[in-house]
Amino acid sequence: MLNDELDSSELGTLEYWEQRYKNEIKNYSDYGDTGDVWFGEDIVERIINWLTKNIAKTSKIADIGCGNGHILTELARLDYKDLTGLDYSQTAIDLAQAIAQEQKLSIKYEVTDILEGLKATYNVIHDKGTYDAVSLSTNSKESCMKYMINVHEALRPDGYFIITSCNWTENELKDHFKQYFLIHQTISTPQFKFGGKVGNVVSICVFVKK
Ligand SMILES: C[S@@+](CC[C@H](N)C(=O)[O-])C[C@H]1O[C@@H](n2cnc3c(N)ncnc32)[C@H](O)[C@@H]1O
Repeated sequence: MLNDELDSSELGTLEYWEQRYKNEIKNYSDYGDTGDVWFGEDIVERIINWLTKNIAKTSKIADIGCGNGHILTELARLDYKDLTGLDYSQTAIDLAQAIAQEQKLSIKYEVTDILEGLKATYNVIHDKGTYDAVSLSTNSKESCMKYMINVHEALRPDGYFIITSCNWTENELKDHFKQYFLIHQTISTPQFKFGGKVGNVVSICVFVKK
């Protein structure tokens, strides 16, 4: 259950992301820099490896809080055919669309606030860093609950929900989502050791619907 709560931060606001993507879109038009790869290329590679082994190229896949659309461009290059990126920042969507257009990749993008609900259903819903941002909003408990219900509704019965987080451990994610999802698999991530305890900087969980 959702008993944990983080202190709210500017990363939980639309204003923060709009400003950030305004800078990124300028960098893209000035220097061709496509922007941040959140949590790094190694994490993206682990997610892509799992997807290519388990998910058909024709599956309908949504990336929620897609930002610059990095993971979708990687999937489009691997011949995934039905890709949709959703973000509540119009500027993120403008950036993602400009990148896909220049790279001649077929990806749909839509401005959508995940907390307001998704308009379609999907075989795979992917989130890297978006639940983390939602967890940092004011009223985060309520927002996290809305997020969970909306993802559950938009996921097809045999679908997968893949989430990568740096704010929550594997066990915390399993605990948060247990009301609506069952854990299917965890994807291993690099570990660190501190004071004799082993931990992960980033956690990746694959859930199925309850
Ligand atoms: C840490 S960034 C990650 C971006 C992208 N997933 C990646 O891995 O590069 C978090 C993203 O979530 C988006 N976001 C946060 N809250 C959202 C919401 N309620 N609905 C849609 N997008 C949201 C932000 O605009 C931002 O693009």
